Amino acid sequence: MNIALAYNVRHTKPDINNPQYIVEAEFDEPATIMAIKKALKKLGHRVFTVEADEGAYVKFQKLKRRIDLVFNIAEGINGRDREAQIPAMLEMLGLPYTGPGPLSYALGLDKIRAKEIMSIHHIPTPAWIAVEKISDLCEKNMFAYPVIAKPMAEGSSKGIRAKNLAHNFKELKKITHDLLQQFKQRVLIEEFLGGREFTVAVIGNPARVLPIIELTFDKLPIGMPHFDHYEAKWIYDNPDSGHDPLICPAKTNIKLAHQIEDISLKAFQALGMADWARIDIRLDITGKPHIIEVNCPPGIIPDPKENSRFPRAARVAGLSYNQMIEKIIISACQRCKVKYFKKIN
Ligand SMILES: Nc1ncnc2c1ncn2[C@@H]1O[C@H](COP(=O)(O)OP(=O)(O)OP(=O)(O)O)[C@@H](O)[C@H]1O
Ligand SMILES: [Mg+2]
Repeated sequence: MNIALAYNVRHTKPDINNPQYIVEAEFDEPATIMAIKKALKKLGHRVFTVEADEGAYVKFQKLKRRIDLVFNIAEGINGRDREAQIPAMLEMLGLPYTGPGPLSYALGLDKIRAKEIMSIHHIPTPAWIAVEKISDLCEKNMFAYPVIAKPMAEGSSKGIRAKNLAHNFKELKKITHDLLQQFKQRVLIEEFLGGREFTVAVIGNPARVLPIIELTFDKLPIGMPHFDHYEAKWIYDNPDSGHDPLICPAKTNIKLAHQIEDISLKAFQALGMADWARIDIRLDITGKPHIIEVNCPPGIIPDPKENSRFPRAARVAGLSYNQMIEKIIISACQRCKVKYFKKIN
């Protein structure tokens, strides 16, 4: 097939002190884009790379008659609905693409709207409030501490530092104030679920769940809170640390595995996801799983040492990186009624 790869590339290494990193945190590393391109070629496709910048629409317009499908890993560049930008352009041009439509991408990024929809579908998510300005915070109405404060529409732990866990109103006020200042968007405050954490890769059409991954926090420095904050994700989980924080397949009993798979697929459906997504889950103190968030496109860093979640689950399911990419493409082809073929024409 003739496949366009839509992407945003990171030009800086993760570094919380570099403002450019904040802009590009969700973008992919050049190595990831190269690996997907290589995989597509290896699978027998011709690849056209399209950087999803301001000129993306014109690039797709020019390619329109030459491509059969777009493999979309673009994060978008501006605004809260940025992940919806490329799918919206592709809809306009009538080009089929991997992943869900613009609305679902926008919902995936908006943790508050996503929680509202999941609530309607009776999918458990942590208790929460949304704060637009600091005066919205009310000491009396707060649920039990600790609570976690997060920017409502960011990913890759942007704005989620270890210090975002508040143990009292004073700490909460400070962190909420800082997040409002820095991100200029509503702040989501949630009860902090201290149980085990899992992440679930969902793939295909019909969607199916890959082996469940558990995230462990026991190797974090003493005193560092046990959740997947910026420091845990980008400082302590790196190829040189010699430590693997993931367990896949996760060790769960059948009942828990069932519950996790069930809410993952329900969340996938409720938010209108398609072809692939990764669902973050955490247990409350009673052991009941709750959805933390739904990620699409999920990160797919190729180097196994980087502990990228989605490819790890795929590997455990017996899928190589290339086979994982192929599954996503076949799923999109089935959905969009595009004929899948390998020979370049
Ligand atoms: N209500 C909560 N209770 C317990 N832990 C939480 C809660 N909300 C977030 N976390 C922790 O913070 C981490 C990051 O939160 P979240 O997944 O919402 O952020 P993100 O930046 O969008 O993540 P990603 O890198 O997956 O895009 C979670 O993986 C989890 O460890
Ligand atoms: Mg997450």
